[in-house]
Amino acid sequence: MAKKQDFRTAIKRVINGEDRCYNTSSNDSFDHVLARARMGRRGFLKGSSSLAAASMLGMGLAFLADSANQTGQTAQAAGLGLSFSPVAKSVADALVVPEGYTARVLLATGDPISSSATPYKNDGTDNDFDLRAGDHNDAMHYFGLNQAGTGWDPSGRDRALLCINNEVCEDLGFVHPNGPTNYGPESTDARPAIEIDKEVAAHGVTIVEVVKQGSTYDLNLNSPYNRRITAATPCQISGPVRGSAMLATTYSPSGEQTRGTLNNCANGHTPWGTYLTCEENWAGYFNRREDDAVRTEKEATAFKRYGIGSETSGRYNWSRAEAAQDADFYQRWDTSKTGSSPSADYRNVANTFGWVVEIDPFNPEAMPQKRTAIGRFAHEGCWPAPAVAGQPLVFYSGDDSRNEYIYKFVSAAKWAPEDATGGMAAGDKYLNAGTLYAAKFNDDGTGDWLLLSLSNPDIANYADYAFVDEADVLINARIAADAAGATKMDRPEWGGVNPVNGDVYVTLTNSVSSSSGRGVKTSLNAANPRYYADAKGEKVSQGNVNGHIIRWREADGSHGATTFNWDVYLFGAKASAEADVNLSGLTDENDFSSPDGLWFSDAVPGLLWLQTDDSYYTDTTNCMMLAALPGTVGDGEAKLVMNKAVPTNADADQQVKTYLGKSASPTILRRFLVGPVDCEITGITESPDGTVIFVNIQHPGENSGSASDPTQFTSHWPDGGDARPRSATVVITRDDGGKIAV
Ligand code: FEO
Ligand code: CA
Ligand code: CA
Repeated sequence: MAKKQDFRTAIKRVINGEDRCYNTSSNDSFDHVLARARMGRRGFLKGSSSLAAASMLGMGLAFLADSANQTGQTAQAAGLGLSFSPVAKSVADALVVPEGYTARVLLATGDPISSSATPYKNDGTDNDFDLRAGDHNDAMHYFGLNQAGTGWDPSGRDRALLCINNEVCEDLGFVHPNGPTNYGPESTDARPAIEIDKEVAAHGVTIVEVVKQGSTYDLNLNSPYNRRITAATPCQISGPVRGSAMLATTYSPSGEQTRGTLNNCANGHTPWGTYLTCEENWAGYFNRREDDAVRTEKEATAFKRYGIGSETSGRYNWSRAEAAQDADFYQRWDTSKTGSSPSADYRNVANTFGWVVEIDPFNPEAMPQKRTAIGRFAHEGCWPAPAVAGQPLVFYSGDDSRNEYIYKFVSAAKWAPEDATGGMAAGDKYLNAGTLYAAKFNDDGTGDWLLLSLSNPDIANYADYAFVDEADVLINARIAADAAGATKMDRPEWGGVNPVNGDVYVTLTNSVSSSSGRGVKTSLNAANPRYYADAKGEKVSQGNVNGHIIRWREADGSHGATTFNWDVYLFGAKASAEADVNLSGLTDENDFSSPDGLWFSDAVPGLLWLQTDDSYYTDTTNCMMLAALPGTVGDGEAKLVMNKAVPTNADADQQVKTYLGKSASPTILRRFLVGPVDCEITGITESPDGTVIFVNIQHPGENSGSASDPTQFTSHWPDGGDARPRSATVVITRDDGGKIAV
């Protein structure tokens, strides 16, 4: 079993890449922070020198709270309170919800989404995943369906379409009878095409209609809207990168199309009722076995920056299919230079992934559109600010890898509410042209949005990479953000905008340089201020292992602004940790580690949900979901965080100044749910009246020692007995029919 776990861990390490570091730029190392502190900073809180002085003296952020009170409200001020009893930490192989609540599995991996599919046997023999729920449910969204079933109704309660991301196909190979054959980035042997086809089909997005049945929802397996988008579905390239020579492939020499969407992690949605699915760890999927010298210097730089190695078969070794009818269909996963020209091979195929993809759930005929104006990186998600008539639309994104950046897209077109019925044509109008920024978090509590365009001289004149056009900037947004001087973050995951006051939140799940020696050591800055060594069993982890959640308020409350003020909403920690680690004062009722999912309810404005994807507190508890009633940016104080033996400071103790939000208490933060063994909680959506929430449980049993021997499974959830574990969407209701959590 230990050997199998080592294999599983090694595979995950090689393919996911998110806790490796491909950012070797010098942006915002702690040395820079020190240098800035010595030199003094430009006036933070422009025009307010007394407030600047107050902050320098560590006298707190009362000024920010004042500004918050002028422009925003808190959920508590609006009279909202959490009404459920906190759930205790648990390592049981069970889904635990508060007393008075019921959780029911709606749709698990492999379940039919069509009445023509047979019940899932869950023994690896079902192959028709085009008719089944995909694997590894991640983010999802509820789109109300009108009574006639003909289109979107934002307030529709009786019928709805759920769009559910299927991030990956479980690496252990539970979908195969006895695990995968010749699998993984090391293998150069051919794989059975039937295995590849099934894994490809288990990726992507599941769209399924749900209908209200009493107080809960059931599936409608006869809905014409039910469908799968997979890693094989044809997609249009749209926006500024469409037609770029850097996207030319055999499949689309003109660079206008590609096949498939990959590693669909978190999401977003638009004011016209379409779904945004986001391509995260796509870089690990490609075969590339070639000397860097056969590529241009720029291509080699880009491969390195995005984590595409030169001696890999890709996560699943998909480019090598034995006895395949359509060799091109598998060859497309090989991004090596093998032909005489870009249109004769797939050397550029990796440039067709890493985008935000728009899907119209109400129009099964509409091709998914890869919206390139939002940039290419490991897109966790794409979260909208509220649409305001006459203002640009704004979407926030995080790049989930160690030391990567937070981005913002501001549309060129101003929002016209009549476009709410515009479908994909509205997507063409608002998502194909705009301005992309990366965030710089200054150590004085201010921030700047840095323009990612050739009109930024730092990018036009960048010595390490000669951008040729705006398409190049978007394709290599990470390099452009390096050039612009964005701030390295501790792995940005989900984001969201608090509807009661406009504050923007992003989880920074963790940043770990583990004892296995991967990547570079953690660098510290004011917005990512924590480093410590944490002993867990025999393993010593180093870095910000429990993560934190950053938030900011845009200048003048305008989401299109180019400056902001920030603080840290919460730091993850064990309740028992010392004060310099448990910085937010977490208790047994709400302590958590590695925040990932973050989602503001629309039905209950001010209610925030947090979900964890953790490996550092799992000896005490499985992953969890918490409900929160956050305050405002600046409701806490400036804080000097003492870090011990920081490697970026020659292993000396190091104090880093940061800005801390108000301490948590069970009144405003409490645990709502704990999942089964080895799962991650990710993805949440709700009915329009807030009485039903849908939550995804991803990869229970992922540390199992076998895909087929039940005695080696660490979880049998949700089916129990000897069953193989499965990811699943659950429906949670309150037994008295009330709104969830409040
Ligand atoms: Fe797919 Fe960063 O989580
Ligand atoms: Ca995530
Ligand atoms: Ca995660």
